[in-house]
Amino acid sequence: MPKILFVCTGNTCRSPMAEFLLRQMLEGGEAREQWEVSSAGISAIGGNKASPQAIKVLQEEGVDPGSHQSRPLGLKMIEQADLIVTMTVDHKTVVETLAPWEKGKIFTLKELAGETAELDLADPFGQSKEVYRRTRDEIKLLLQGVIGKMNQFASKEGNLVSEENNYKRGDQLKIAIACDHAGLTLKKELIAYLERKGHYYQDVGTCSEQSVDYPDFAFQVASTVATGENDRGIVICGTGIGMSIAANKVKGIRAALCHDVFSAKASRQHNDSNILAIGSRVIGPGLALEIVQTWLSEDFLGDRHKRRINKIDLIERGEYQGNEEGNCN
Ligand code: RB5
Repeated sequence: MPKILFVCTGNTCRSPMAEFLLRQMLEGGEAREQWEVSSAGISAIGGNKASPQAIKVLQEEGVDPGSHQSRPLGLKMIEQADLIVTMTVDHKTVVETLAPWEKGKIFTLKELAGETAELDLADPFGQSKEVYRRTRDEIKLLLQGVIGKMNQFASKEGNLVSEENNYKRGDQLKIAIACDHAGLTLKKELIAYLERKGHYYQDVGTCSEQSVDYPDFAFQVASTVATGENDRGIVICGTGIGMSIAANKVKGIRAALCHDVFSAKASRQHNDSNILAIGSRVIGPGLALEIVQTWLSEDFLGDRHKRRINKIDLIERGEYQGNEEGNCN
């Protein structure tokens, strides 16, 4: 489900008003795509209710923001949103400074609604109910202009990989694991390790030394990761090469063949790898365990690396246009 995030300063007036009003307005739409609507504040203290005046003027419209609890804006929220709508230009600048690689999806409310002159929505904080009413009505009007534009920001079809998986660590992860006949012994060692550490895992085969075809097992793991059934995958064959090539054919998969700890770490931090491939005939179980341990505990760093992953996604979708910069001519 695409996500829209409203941002103001304290997340108690303007942004929760926009959040609850938009939710109410979207409920009426029939053909409209469902959106997850939320809000946050760049200087918010977590857990505060919406301001009393905001609650009152929303209730007048049949909207109850009683469940609202303020949230400080975080990097993950920015990255996970498909569209970010700020109340002022200053808010927009703060969000863009925190995540410059996400610039294309950050707008002020007035800007997105099509206004060009004044782009700030004034803060009603501490003012009379009448001022809050005016703010509410202004937000409603602006949201009407926003609604028609939202769908162009919904995530592109085809990226089936759960966006949550970058932010889970260790034992929170659901891991699919598979091998061919050459990788069976190592897979057993890795499974014993996952069990010792209390990880959730799904063993999708093979379970005997009878000769099998590694693409069958690479595909099993890759499919469950691509659909989000599992967060990550580990595949083992003799060299790890066949498994990694096959897994990388599945849309949304970034399988990394790693035979050293440095590469395993970098494959998570820089490449956001979601499958780890290992060759059981290349390294011993001791190193393999260290690699797995590192790979499961490292997070994607985002930033410029996110831009590069986005380019990989474009290549995968056949939409990559090339880049004039950086050639040697
Ligand atoms: C099987 O002999 C071997 O080819 C396979 O395990 C793997 O190394 C393929 O890349």
